[in-house]
Amino acid sequence: MATQDALYDRIDLELSWSERDLPERERTKHVHRLHPYLGKFIPQLVETLLARYVRPGGPVLDPFAGSGTTLVQALESGHDATGVDIAAFNALLMRVKTDEYNLFVLERELRDACARLDAAEPGGHEGASAYVRRWFAPRAAAELLFFRSLVDEYEHADVLRVVLARAARSARRTTHFDLDFPRAPQRGAYWCHKHKRECRPVARADHFLRRYALDTLARIRAFSRVRAKGRTASVLHGDARALGLGADHAAVLTSPPYPGLIDYHEQHRYAYELLGLEDRGASELGRGATKAAIADYVDGVADVLRRSAEQLEDGAPVLVVVNDRRELYPSILEQAGLRLEHRVRRHVNRRTGRRAGEYFEDVLIARTSMQR
Ligand SMILES: C[S@@+](CC[C@H](N)C(=O)[O-])C[C@H]1O[C@@H](n2cnc3c(N)ncnc32)[C@H](O)[C@@H]1O
Repeated sequence: MATQDALYDRIDLELSWSERDLPERERTKHVHRLHPYLGKFIPQLVETLLARYVRPGGPVLDPFAGSGTTLVQALESGHDATGVDIAAFNALLMRVKTDEYNLFVLERELRDACARLDAAEPGGHEGASAYVRRWFAPRAAAELLFFRSLVDEYEHADVLRVVLARAARSARRTTHFDLDFPRAPQRGAYWCHKHKRECRPVARADHFLRRYALDTLARIRAFSRVRAKGRTASVLHGDARALGLGADHAAVLTSPPYPGLIDYHEQHRYAYELLGLEDRGASELGRGATKAAIADYVDGVADVLRRSAEQLEDGAPVLVVVNDRRELYPSILEQAGLRLEHRVRRHVNRRTGRRAGEYFEDVLIARTSMQR
């Protein structure tokens, strides 16, 4: 068995934090926690990689930007950033996290929507889709649909959409311990492994809407205090194999999806249903783990990395965070015309939710083969 010293020799301790060094509160600071997202990396990792490998102030590209961790941290560390994602809800979430707001207007709008919810007698949920009727208790559905009917009236409608989605997630008929991918609605009382007592599925959504409206405001305000002045993020919604990715980036920093692990549309199904977002899941890379799906994955990620690297300044790095169990990345990098310069291993200590546990992931530091 490896001794602890030998094990630590192979791990980059500066990139490996224990729960005590870096508690959940820090990992989910300000806008990073505007909405749950399974499969994001932690902001402190991005912060360290930017400081270590990217020239000060250089613009950063993330072609698989997800919930926008790279973009938010880039803005905090004084870089412009561009993020691409195929999933409409992720693009919405990134925009809401990185936009600049008139905070007075934002506060007035969020408080106004909550006051109207308090004053209203949300009607029934007739006319609700089959999904809404199946996954929400009647009162919760009526409250969510009422809130949805208000959203378009506001300047910061997208912020209200994210509040609505987050409240919908919490108000689904699920057990408390299976919020990530519940398979069937939970209609009656159940033994809750999380709270060690009998719990009941939620019947209302109004308290979530109010709580998340205020929490969102506080988080956007907190981020506005720490983001660098004059730095902006652009969010591109679409397939990174086909979109123009901008030019002259000082680094690519990304964590691509991995075959068969997470369905990035399905985890936010409620948001697609309530907000009427387009589902482009068929173009999501990493769906399925059959031989054919893996071959498509390798071609697709290689294509995106090659196209991204073409938009880099001379000598700029491509930084890829991945837990490559199948050892696909040596050939992905080669196919992308990238040369692996360095590989650092980090210990991932704990994640929240049912997938809690520990594992290792690598940061691949690559450059185009033309560069020396
Ligand atoms: C591992 S996640 C990125 C998480 C991100 N680092 C974060 O912290 O939130 C990978 C992302 O790639 C996106 N994706 C999958 N296929 C894509 C494609 N063809 N073009 C653009 N994005 C894609 C998924 O929707 C998912 O959000």
